[in-house]
Amino acid sequence: MALSSRHLLGLQGVPKEDIQTILDTAITFREVLERPIKRVPTLQGKTVVNLFYESSTRTRISFELAEKRLSADAINFSVAASSVSKGETLKDTIRNIEAMKVDMVVVRHACAGTPQFLTKVCDSNIINAGDGIHEHPTQALLDMYSIRERLGRIEGLKVCIIGDIAHSRVALSNIFGLRTMGAKVSVCGPSTMIPKYINDLGVDVIFSVDEAIRENDVIIVLRIQLERKAREYFPSIREYARYFGIDQDRLDKAGKEILILHPGPINRGVELSSEVADGLNQIILRQVTNGVAVRMAVLYLLGTLN
Ligand code: CP
Repeated sequence: MALSSRHLLGLQGVPKEDIQTILDTAITFREVLERPIKRVPTLQGKTVVNLFYESSTRTRISFELAEKRLSADAINFSVAASSVSKGETLKDTIRNIEAMKVDMVVVRHACAGTPQFLTKVCDSNIINAGDGIHEHPTQALLDMYSIRERLGRIEGLKVCIIGDIAHSRVALSNIFGLRTMGAKVSVCGPSTMIPKYINDLGVDVIFSVDEAIRENDVIIVLRIQLERKAREYFPSIREYARYFGIDQDRLDKAGKEILILHPGPINRGVELSSEVADGLNQIILRQVTNGVAVRMAVLYLLGTLN
């Protein structure tokens, strides 16, 4: 079944049927990842460029692996080693890359809206791999896949996103995606990190982490983004860890089952204690594995059916 758009720019406005199709298609590709030969010929002859203007470990490697597992030709663009360092514009860069006959572009950029801009200046399918503080749709899709895999459903679950909501593309994509799939979504964090428009998105605000753990089935814990000046929004890292960090004592005190997700990279001892980051409630590395299957599904659905 084809998706309703030929690009994946975000999850805002993406229909439930599209999300369902991506998650269901990913189940097949997840099985491929368990085979001795982890490769299918699905995108043979297609060329995908990974255009990463911002650092990344998980997303970049995950997309590259997904492309290779689908037998596509994967080209990695590194800003430092490219003509961007000589002053070439994004528009000229993408038009020159496209002149070499590529089919799909995966883009990460510090500026919100970059993927939308690319749809105006080139013909390739565009996939957003994270644009500034806007959206990170494949992260939210892999989070939803992982929640559904573990708990059997998304509809009716109570999910709280904890941390710097105002500057998190992971939070925004999850709010859109989870609500579309029927989850009840809330957010929790320092008041300085909760955007003023949050109620317009249909989510509740919880200011106590203990209440967030007590009242929800799932928590998605966000990284404190020190590179985006997160330190300016609370007095000290120690204070953040004390009031909003998740440790084993907090989980034990709640005395209930809770599923913990984190997009990575983790600031150990800040948003999660090491004990919790490696503990029985979390599925952090499972999210990373599932991410390859989910990205294979997105590439397949956009690359062959749109
Ligand atoms: N989760 C995530 O986007 O991680 P990277 O920044 O390492 O890609």
